[in-house]
Amino acid sequence: QASTKPESYRPQYHFSPPKNWINDPNGLLYYEGEYHLFYQHNPFGNEWGHMSWGHAVSKDLLRWEHLPVAIPEFTHSDGKTKTAIFSGSAVIDKGNTSGLCPAGTKDCMVAIYTGNVTEGETQTAQYQNVAYSSDKGRTWKQYDKNPVLDLKSKEFRDPNVFWYAPQKKWIMSAVKATEHRVAFFESKDLTKWTLLSHFGLQGDTTKVWECPALMPVPIQNEPGKTKWVLFISAGHPQKDYVGMQYFVGDFDGKTFSLDPANPKPIAPAVSNVVDYGKDYYAAIQFNDLPAKQTGPVMVGWLNNWAYGNKLPTTPFKGAMSLPRQITLKRTSAGLQLMQQPIATVASLRSDIAPQALVKVSDQSRVVEKSVPNSYEFRVDIKPGSAKTVGVRLAKNGAEETIIQYTNGKLQLDRRKSGNVSFSDRFPSVEEAPLNLQNGVFTLRVFVDKSIVEVFANEGERVITDLIFPGEPSGSIEIFAEGGSAEFSNVRVSPIKAVVAQ
Ligand code: FRU
Repeated sequence: QASTKPESYRPQYHFSPPKNWINDPNGLLYYEGEYHLFYQHNPFGNEWGHMSWGHAVSKDLLRWEHLPVAIPEFTHSDGKTKTAIFSGSAVIDKGNTSGLCPAGTKDCMVAIYTGNVTEGETQTAQYQNVAYSSDKGRTWKQYDKNPVLDLKSKEFRDPNVFWYAPQKKWIMSAVKATEHRVAFFESKDLTKWTLLSHFGLQGDTTKVWECPALMPVPIQNEPGKTKWVLFISAGHPQKDYVGMQYFVGDFDGKTFSLDPANPKPIAPAVSNVVDYGKDYYAAIQFNDLPAKQTGPVMVGWLNNWAYGNKLPTTPFKGAMSLPRQITLKRTSAGLQLMQQPIATVASLRSDIAPQALVKVSDQSRVVEKSVPNSYEFRVDIKPGSAKTVGVRLAKNGAEETIIQYTNGKLQLDRRKSGNVSFSDRFPSVEEAPLNLQNGVFTLRVFVDKSIVEVFANEGERVITDLIFPGEPSGSIEIFAEGGSAEFSNVRVSPIKAVVAQ
């Protein structure tokens, strides 16, 4: 709870837990005016362990109220077997048709999660369980006939469940992690599940597959049309890091099949990359969004398993992305995923008039001497004759975080971004292919203490990375090298802190 000073690195408008470790978002759900965020959480320490579901609620997806742990790890009656509550999803069973909640319950909130079972240090099973709540997720009971889906595997996890209205049934996607496959199941009552089909063995199969998320997504330049997108947390364009990939296709209630307009893989063995940074993983969608909402909203975990436990933050470790609005756009390269932070984040921003167009030739220019810790930076850049153009954020002595465009690529360089020494796998340069539109590209960058989320060309390319700069937060410079470039609509807008301090 409230301390007198915010801990350094604590994000001010992104979700982070009051204390201890978090990873994946779980059970994202909207119900009666509340958005629910459950998440992988260790209630006892600042490293991964004792996985339980933490819980927070929000009325606007920006200001979160922390609630007590919702579903804790539990010990079996033998006194030595333990079930950890791994990732999963939550749904509202309207009218309690499953009968899981007590008779007379109006709507039953049901969590479908992976029970990860251990005896001492030995993992013995991984299967799907359910728990239910008749008080809006405040208290939970385990179903007494768990598990509801057991393939006698130790690598079967992360059930993602939603209501498939056309056939009035629940659909679950879950991964056979080491087989690089997603299995789809159906159920009428959330407890008896029948296998429908499999999808997999394509895209990046160099890492285990985790956290599938299947959803219909509107095509923004074809009003009224949607395609199904299957997100998988798996490989990354750079070897030995985890990241997310997506597949565009159709789903008929039984099978997911790739669309011919699925964009071509952009790198050998890597399918369509969701986020080219190192720190966006395990994102899933909200279930039951209000009807006025067009298209899915997803939240991801901002960290990477390559160094996750080592982040230099205390007393908490881990944060969530801004909720992202998801659409598709038909382009000459196929159906491209587009991601934007939810529009209401602008309500936290002090709106500032853009600076006049600046021409920069072989030089750097300071656009803001002393920036707040948490802000949005916007700019439209015409590289013109310059070889490399970009912006240096959090520039403070030798420290800087560089976002630059060179040779058809957008890069984020955090090698000098502050504390990078806590893991030799942390210092890095991220890279995404980027097309100019009429010679210009646009950047919208959300900086929040230790978080940088970069949205280029209206969310066609996204790079999310953590940084751990020193204090104070330093300046912002724009620069062009090897020629001259034009920078327009430069704006640095402070974003209001909405987390408890
Ligand atoms: C993904 C993941 C999931 C698993 C959970 C355990 O980050 O490995 O596959 O359910 O984390 O905390």
